[in-house]
Amino acid sequence: MDIVIRRTADQALRLAAEIIANTVRDKPDTVLGLATGRTMEPVYAHLVEAVRDGTLDLSQVTTFNLDEYVGLPPGDSGSFTGYMQAHLFEHVEVPAENIHIPVSAGSDANDVCAHYESDIEASGGIDLQVLGLGLTGHIGFNEPGSALRSRTRTKALSDITRRQNAAYFGGVENVPERAITMGIGTILDARRCLLVVTGHEKAQATAAALEGPITASVPASALQLHPNCVVILDQPASTKLANVGYYLTTFANEPEWEPYRKAGF
Ligand code: GLP
Repeated sequence: MDIVIRRTADQALRLAAEIIANTVRDKPDTVLGLATGRTMEPVYAHLVEAVRDGTLDLSQVTTFNLDEYVGLPPGDSGSFTGYMQAHLFEHVEVPAENIHIPVSAGSDANDVCAHYESDIEASGGIDLQVLGLGLTGHIGFNEPGSALRSRTRTKALSDITRRQNAAYFGGVENVPERAITMGIGTILDARRCLLVVTGHEKAQATAAALEGPITASVPASALQLHPNCVVILDQPASTKLANVGYYLTTFANEPEWEPYRKAGF
């Protein structure tokens, strides 16, 4: 794992967006795994800005979102489909047939899960999987206890997660109880993972995920098994880590980060 700590959330999220943009600049038909949540909103805003500036072209990418609530129609404003439209797809040109979100409304959820896995495989596999971190240590909607080799399936959401997402639904009572999510095994199959975490309220989950034991009780800890995982944190999210001094040397010294240093990130 390459753990990079930037002082502010703004710096961290700009850097995360630039990593995504550079991936697409290097390979215009990149298969991107996408995440939702408040953390990602500025990341998508930076990507939209780059497309508008003419420094990024997303017209050949294929996207697979991590998850979607079971039963919510795509038009529902709380759905991740609605989120992706509002924050990215309404503003940039990505062909509709290249966009994948595991929508189950009107279909059998198990069929949707099976098709999702085969669609990812048919695309050639995910090149870069973007991830946020839940307060429970979840990635996607893989709640604590999720099998470390799980594939796309339905999961019950924990109370903590439903409260975390309540603002999108005008109250926790309106948050669906289940979701379809890529499994941890599905996520680990991506060629590269990019975990983005900001805010002191995530410091505990961040430390457990990055420095704790690999355990199904902290699903994000499975990323320690991934051979090519980059983690971008802001300083508040890093406060419970033991090896901060070492992580700070990564961005400061490693040659791979030189172009970003030079570009002022
Ligand atoms: C939801 C998503 C996760 C995301 C998490 C973080 O639970 N299923 O993929 O990582 O939100 O949300 P936020 O960035 O709002 O803290």
